[in-house]
Amino acid sequence: MNTTTRRPLIAGNWKMNLDHLQSIAFLQKLEWALKDANHDYGAVEVAVFPPFTDLRSVQTLVSADKYEIAFGGQDLSAHDSGAYTGEISGAFLSALGAGYVIIGHSERRQYHGETDELVAAKVAAAHKHGLVPVICVGETAEDLEEHGPSAVPVAQLRTALGGAEQGKEVVVAYEPVWAIGSGQAATAEQAEQVCAALRPVVAELLGEEAGESTRVLYGGSVKSGNIAGFMRQPNVDGALVGGASLQLEEFSAIVRYQKHVV
Ligand code: 13P
Repeated sequence: MNTTTRRPLIAGNWKMNLDHLQSIAFLQKLEWALKDANHDYGAVEVAVFPPFTDLRSVQTLVSADKYEIAFGGQDLSAHDSGAYTGEISGAFLSALGAGYVIIGHSERRQYHGETDELVAAKVAAAHKHGLVPVICVGETAEDLEEHGPSAVPVAQLRTALGGAEQGKEVVVAYEPVWAIGSGQAATAEQAEQVCAALRPVVAELLGEEAGESTRVLYGGSVKSGNIAGFMRQPNVDGALVGGASLQLEEFSAIVRYQKHVV
């Protein structure tokens, strides 16, 4: 069991799923399910990352009904404003009450050519606009074979944190590309090994205190059946959940992993 004082974070990355009406229905049901189960948000934080077009609806619901569920964007622009068709400023996310923003997800790196340098610029933009960046790092199956488990994620994080402001919060998400959407999660030991290698990078670049307080999440085929094993690891402080975050029962069971830790 993780015995540190870091508050675990279970985050649902909805990716390109649920329109704004579906997002309202889903979030209401999630909140009801967690309320029914007396979920203690102080013990385990919950955040969702809907598509941009849902964020206004999510914000309205969260603020009207005083949900304790946090939310954020799945990406942001490195720029503040201007002629950048299709991009979303961190200022806009902030104005909507978003607390977090995912940066450098492997799907952005793979399909949109995002480099470590762009990721660093986006981290800087997130901090500038008062958002907590959820910085995604992770190796492909080829990287794993060629460089071993932690070399690529460590190098990605080192560059990404170049954009971070000292004293401001970051969340790191270790998501091995080979484990995303594959049903083949890393083992808890594999996740721990890499998360334990990422923490000293945070300490080195943002200071000892940040190294201790920063939450490092695991992501990649997380389910209700494997979450407890990840959460028992000393350096895993939560999960970034894709597919299972769209299944109400599954996601609420993941959030409530403390109830089924054996
Ligand atoms: P899956 O949980 O569907 O493997 O996705 C993980 C992910 O990419 C979360 O950002």
